[in-house]
Amino acid sequence: MSEPPAHGRVAALVPAAGRGERLGPGAPKALRELAGTPMLVHAVKALAASPMVDLVVVAAPVQSVEEVRSLLIDPEFGAEVAVVAGGESRSESVARALIGLPEDVDIVLVHDAARPLVPVEVVTAVASAVREGHPAVIPVVPVVDTIKSIDDDGRILGTVPRAKLRATQTPQGFDRDVLQRAHAEVDEAVTDDAGMVESLGITVHAVDGHEESFKVTRPLDVVLAESVIAKRRSR
Ligand code: C5P
Repeated sequence: MSEPPAHGRVAALVPAAGRGERLGPGAPKALRELAGTPMLVHAVKALAASPMVDLVVVAAPVQSVEEVRSLLIDPEFGAEVAVVAGGESRSESVARALIGLPEDVDIVLVHDAARPLVPVEVVTAVASAVREGHPAVIPVVPVVDTIKSIDDDGRILGTVPRAKLRATQTPQGFDRDVLQRAHAEVDEAVTDDAGMVESLGITVHAVDGHEESFKVTRPLDVVLAESVIAKRRSR
């Protein structure tokens, strides 16, 4: 008789319901193409390529659920893929993807569709750190600019010491119960899930992110993303 698994499965949730207005007019951001393939498909492939990820759940724009389902029917993905309707905010989209998760999932990664080029090593490192016992894990990179705080009149209020700053990427990884508690209890406006977990007083652990895991936000990011894809294809 085979042994039952020692632990649960890992699900990666992909909030992909944003309009992407900073990228200019057009389709919802996740459906815009990079080198001929929708950004979302790049992101789902990157997650599914990690041996740690068993299931990917995409929160799609409400009007595009069927279109997204048809884009993601690919027997070559290394993980099961499901699509649900996203919400009005990023955190609502994550909450909707959390609702239907199978019971045997014990680790949840949350990854922005807008970070299509995340290297598989980062996905695996985040999930592994949660499996090793950290309840919340985020990939980070050093900040290259000097960051100032500023008031409404354009006066500089101060300079934050750069050596202590990190920019946060995704996937962010969580013990499932911790993430569910954060979504149930925290309703202040935060831009990432780790921020909600911090509000609960739980320590968040950092691992190394990657420069290719940048967020595609503005038109110039599309140029950069397509050259990263071209560089990867020429290897
Ligand atoms: O707007 P921003 O770039 O911060 O969005 C981060 C991620 O959250 C994107 O992948 C976007 O599609 C997603 N999002 C969402 N639902 C919303 C707004 C944003 O899933 N209502």
